[in-house]
Amino acid sequence: MATIPIFELKQVSQQFGQFRALTNLNLQIYPGERVALLGASGAGKSTLIRLLNGMLFPSQGEVWVLGRNLAKISPRQLRQVQRRLGTVYQQFNLVNNLRVIHNVNAGHLGRWSLMKAVVSLLFPQEVETALRALTQVGIPEKLYAPTESLSGGQQQRVALARVLVQNPEVILADEPISNLDGQLSREIMDLLKEMSEIGGKTLVTSLHSIEFACSHCDRLVGLQRGQIVFDVPPAALSQTMIDELWGVGQ
Ligand SMILES: Nc1ncnc2c1ncn2[C@@H]1O[C@H](COP(=O)(O)OP(=O)(O)O)[C@@H](O)[C@H]1O
Ligand SMILES: [Mg+2]
Repeated sequence: MATIPIFELKQVSQQFGQFRALTNLNLQIYPGERVALLGASGAGKSTLIRLLNGMLFPSQGEVWVLGRNLAKISPRQLRQVQRRLGTVYQQFNLVNNLRVIHNVNAGHLGRWSLMKAVVSLLFPQEVETALRALTQVGIPEKLYAPTESLSGGQQQRVALARVLVQNPEVILADEPISNLDGQLSREIMDLLKEMSEIGGKTLVTSLHSIEFACSHCDRLVGLQRGQIVFDVPPAALSQTMIDELWGVGQ
């Protein structure tokens, strides 16, 4: 039996007013793949990630996620699909004035009742699970720390711990390391790769660093002005392809 792709884009275009951010994308991503989205600023990477997690619906074409056409399912079914996707952002997207445990526990929100979520703000629930996730990302001692007191690297670890608690099948990461410096970037990329390798999760991440894309992913998709210009394994990436991708549209 053929494997169903995690993501399938069929002739997808995205228009913002007069501006066309993505044009005729066809793309299939399969379970367990680690895909890097490469391209200059404005190439359409974030737009593509928002289409994949159902935050945005395409102007044309179809986006299929986990076997469902996102435009053809109910809001409830969409939430069920979204529960199986974890997203990590460049800006971490944490609630800064809450303690770390609450941001980690936000990974449960798709499953918890509203009552449990509210009670948890006063009496943190499932502390063991949160602590285990924070241990995995290397900052167990920050469980009750105010999130705003953490460094950028630590905040991105909290965002990863939240995804670990959510335990999705797919991790989408939109420039997860662009606000971090060298060593921290490596540690976060190592964690993402580990989550994908050990947890069997599919990873789709936009990156500025060719080096990390090649060392941590097994498939590189180049976007230029909203179009896919290459889709290759790291070994097939040439200097010409790199120059062309960043040389135009900058
Ligand atoms: N909500 C929006 N409204 C209008 N234009 C947008 C919107 N989102 C993105 N764009 C435009 O679409 C293009 C692609 O943006 P984006 O996907 O953020 O690129 P990247 O993440 O590769 O830098 C850019 O020119 C951007 O200005
Ligand atoms: Mg972006």
